[in-house]
Amino acid sequence: MKALVLAGGSGTRLRPITHTSAKQLVPVANKPVLFYGLEAIAAAGITEVGIVVGATAAEIRRAVGDGDRFGLRITYIEQAAPLGLAHAVLVARDFLGDDDFVMYLGDNFIIGGITALVDGFRADRPDARILLTRVADPSAFGVAELDDKGRVLSLEEKPAEPRSDLALVGVYLFTSVIHEAVRSVVPSARGELEITDALQRLIDTGHDVRSTLITGYWKDTGNVTDLLEVNRTVLETFEPRIDGTVDAASELIGRVVVEPGAVVTGCRIVGPAVIGAGSTLTGCYVGPYTSIAENCRINDSEIEYSIVLGGARIDGVRRVEASLIGREAVVTPAPTVPAAHRLILGDHSKVQIHA
Ligand code: TTP
Repeated sequence: MKALVLAGGSGTRLRPITHTSAKQLVPVANKPVLFYGLEAIAAAGITEVGIVVGATAAEIRRAVGDGDRFGLRITYIEQAAPLGLAHAVLVARDFLGDDDFVMYLGDNFIIGGITALVDGFRADRPDARILLTRVADPSAFGVAELDDKGRVLSLEEKPAEPRSDLALVGVYLFTSVIHEAVRSVVPSARGELEITDALQRLIDTGHDVRSTLITGYWKDTGNVTDLLEVNRTVLETFEPRIDGTVDAASELIGRVVVEPGAVVTGCRIVGPAVIGAGSTLTGCYVGPYTSIAENCRINDSEIEYSIVLGGARIDGVRRVEASLIGREAVVTPAPTVPAAHRLILGDHSKVQIHA
């Protein structure tokens, strides 16, 4: 069995971060989200991995390399434009051959991994298996309609009138019959070759497409709200550890990780939180669910429930909350505008003015 990891795409929902870097490399608890997926694939006993890359190919290659550190053998597959998930399968045809494969969207996050799923697929081998989860707003997702045995009857991408609340999760298991199906797909209204259309084609031609309802945790980290939520969940699993320098005036409460070379002076840090290698924090409050990446400088500021990327600087700002701050970004207070009040006040007046 092989894995096909999708790490191309345009990442419009994470702009402006994705103007300059790949969304799959945005860190969750100071580790790129893509790495969690690669680790889950390795844990499932898969070693041959194709990574579909687009405009950010160089950055993904630099971060992942040949896959040795994950125990994987990585082949990079160039996708000239993000023409859809079915298109990604098309361009990976040579790499995949006739092997079964798991397709994993590189910005998705599944707690608990995929080992049980992959093992189950190896054992029962339907033509395809999709993962589903119940969502409140199905019209934003691919939506499946099932029969009473969990077999998939129909699939629709972002339907205006969803037939269920079962949304597709970004992990798919395929046998080689998917290749013929993706070849038959035509561009959708949004101009993409949709994997839901390929799956529908399998169903229409009498193939066995089954589903697994996952109750565990899944998030598409392609938007800031979900990204912060995943960051929260991962930080909660951390054990406190101080590998950097923390002065006596600082107070660290709960699950706080201070990575090597970080210097914390006169700060109050309430975990779960991680302070990245080489970062300097002086006179700050860092609240729960905050990940500060490497080489940041944060001075006289308050921040919580946020992700700060490498080399960012925050100076004299309170309070930053639910924020995603990009690499080398600089946050400082706005200069106060001198206010002038021109008053003609009657005798015995009492006036309150915003100072
Ligand atoms: P999406 O999040 O569906 O698409 P996107 O990356 O274009 O993001 P946005 O909606 O914010 O514009 O993609 C899911 C994953 O699949 C993501 O990791 C990018 C990847 N992908 C490809 O590799 N090739 C593609 O053609 C598409 C559409 C996505």
